[in-house]
Amino acid sequence: MNILFQENTKTFHLYNDYISYIMMILPNGHMGQLYFGKRINENKDYSYLLEMAPRPMTSYIFDEDRLFSLEHVKQEYAVYGTTDYRHPALEIVQENGSRISDFRYKKHMVENGKPSLAGLPATYVESPEEAMTLVITLEDCVTDIRLKLMYTIFEMGGVIARSTQMINNGQKAVHLTSAMSLCMDLPDCSYEWVQLSGAWSRERHIKTRRLEQGIQAVDSMRGNSSHEHNPFVVLKRPSTDEFQGEALGFSFVYSGNFLAQAEVDTHDTTRILMGINPACFDWKLDAGEDFQTPEAVMVYSAEGLNGMSQTFHRLYQKRLARGYWRDRERPILNNNWEATYFDFTEDRLVEIAKKAKESGVELFVLDDGWFGERNDDHAGLGDWVANPKRLANGITGLAQRIEDLGLKFGLWFEPEMVNKDSGLYRTHPDWMIETPNRHASHGRYQYVLDFSRKEVVDAIFNMMDKILSEAKVSYIKWDMNRSITECYSKALPADRQGEVFHRYILGVYDLYERLTAKFPEILFESCASGGGRFDPGILYYAPQGWASDDSDAIERLKIQYGTSLCYPVSSMGSHVSVIPNHQVYRNTPLHTRANVAMFGTFGYELDLNKLTEEEQRQVGEQIAFVKQYRRLLQFGTFYRLRSPFEGNVTAWMAVSEDQKQAVVGWYRVLNGVNLPFSRIPLKGLNEDYCYGISGQDRVCYGDELMNLGLITTDATAGEVGAGMKPGCDFDSRIYVITAVEPV
Ligand code: DGJ
Repeated sequence: MNILFQENTKTFHLYNDYISYIMMILPNGHMGQLYFGKRINENKDYSYLLEMAPRPMTSYIFDEDRLFSLEHVKQEYAVYGTTDYRHPALEIVQENGSRISDFRYKKHMVENGKPSLAGLPATYVESPEEAMTLVITLEDCVTDIRLKLMYTIFEMGGVIARSTQMINNGQKAVHLTSAMSLCMDLPDCSYEWVQLSGAWSRERHIKTRRLEQGIQAVDSMRGNSSHEHNPFVVLKRPSTDEFQGEALGFSFVYSGNFLAQAEVDTHDTTRILMGINPACFDWKLDAGEDFQTPEAVMVYSAEGLNGMSQTFHRLYQKRLARGYWRDRERPILNNNWEATYFDFTEDRLVEIAKKAKESGVELFVLDDGWFGERNDDHAGLGDWVANPKRLANGITGLAQRIEDLGLKFGLWFEPEMVNKDSGLYRTHPDWMIETPNRHASHGRYQYVLDFSRKEVVDAIFNMMDKILSEAKVSYIKWDMNRSITECYSKALPADRQGEVFHRYILGVYDLYERLTAKFPEILFESCASGGGRFDPGILYYAPQGWASDDSDAIERLKIQYGTSLCYPVSSMGSHVSVIPNHQVYRNTPLHTRANVAMFGTFGYELDLNKLTEEEQRQVGEQIAFVKQYRRLLQFGTFYRLRSPFEGNVTAWMAVSEDQKQAVVGWYRVLNGVNLPFSRIPLKGLNEDYCYGISGQDRVCYGDELMNLGLITTDATAGEVGAGMKPGCDFDSRIYVITAVEPV
């Protein structure tokens, strides 16, 4: 790993064992992009990559020159209005109304390690040898604004993290109306664009389309990163598949309004922009102030989508998630939401917890409904004090009863919200986000607290702090069940209203930071009506997130498969729930519900008392299995083998670091008869190790399993009743692959 600068050719080369990232100072002082891809040798001169040609209808920078136009130059942090007509990374509105800026190279600095970003989540290092950071300072001499472009290259994989800081050294305030974290031009457009999109209960489905001239984008203007689009996109070559070919992943470490955009111009250059959504954004930067953009992370893989995902998984698991729980196996939990909804008493909860304990569960989680006057979703949000009518001994008393059973206790909060029917609203009606003289729309009968205001965050912190300091709480589920409308802060002046969305998220991060600092051993699980804020920003504070409100195993195949494109298994909250399923009313066998959920942070979303004795026995076995294999399931190397978006069968696997053990999950949606024989080539094993396969009476070498494949043929290959156990719809199997002595 190194960062080199060639003074004579003005080129920068950032490289490690996997990638090269090459830039140059352009003839007009702006930063140009020359290459991002597989590692190449250090050449003294890459400036030949700056290609120019005279073209009609083009505007040129230099007098008497018909070659240098920003329109046709690949750039690093582009501005609009000075010969480039593509969408810019940065737009600064100045006192005289001008939007023109001209940022020229001033100096640069290389340091070992990686600086943190004040108030923002970001990837980090634990020792300076893990990464190197290049900071390029540019200056606009009219406004005296400085730009710091930050690039960190990590030793561990093909990763570059980027962010930008704007520093107003001038005398006058300006407005940032676009301040992207990442801007990069690629020399061609021969890519497929992959996005993770969906809606409530069908989050992060994989959508792929060919990149074309024009603009393609995903974004959020909802105040959260959203169920609809994840702040993550991939550009892959059309021939790239899961295991070979080029894939470039772009991930935004942010939980609010975002934009991820590819603009292909008519000369087939592709510009990637990623950052805070410029729509609704207007940040006033007073003289002397600075603004730090969130971080964007780029991964290059020459080993297909799996290669890209594994790099993201390692980075996000080890150097984005933090704290006590980062590397720890996650407790098996039982959450009462789908078991009781709002209809519970203390004794009823204890009854559920007791059975959970008997089955081997480690953590009991009390969900919504324990506070204020919350008997349904019309009231109570904002009053973070236990409802004595339900919990006579408060949270302290209930937590103690749960602890006495030998379980840990977890609690649900929705800190950012308020109901009008609440003590908090009656005392502080002005703390709610709403625009003066306009109707305030509700979502689930609730309103959003103005987290851009410190006193609001303080008040919520104090209420939560009191409970967490008094009661034995080991886990928090932090929910967020509506998006923001009529966005406006009564505490900010008119010319700062464009800051509210971003300030809101900074307030959320501040509360997370304060709580995780004060209670470092509490495990935080994020949630936003399921996966509405499942993003890298939140992962920095909460190492796991409830992936979706859809707990149906078959639906979860797509959700978890899509999610795995960027996020590790250790981050995906996934539970077994009852049948008929509460979202899609499907009846899936108990084993399939568990076989899907175990590739996530495992738990139950039901009352185990209501299962038959045989089912309870199965649950006991499932829990014992997860306890035995969860380190491998949650932290092993994850491979996607068969896509639920492409056929009736889904398969994935996790492999241990020493390659001595693997767990394969195999899932079939519909049963069949007289089907072909079937096998699935595995991945990540040691070619020369001999492996035993659970449920199969043979041993195979790793190269057999990876080249010939794991035999998955079952009774569907013939007539039912021909001696093999018949299958069923929504069937699944888990294969444990274990290295054994050769026979
Ligand atoms: C939405 C969450 O996703 C559910 O799991 C549950 O916590 C409810 N909110 C409670 O209101």
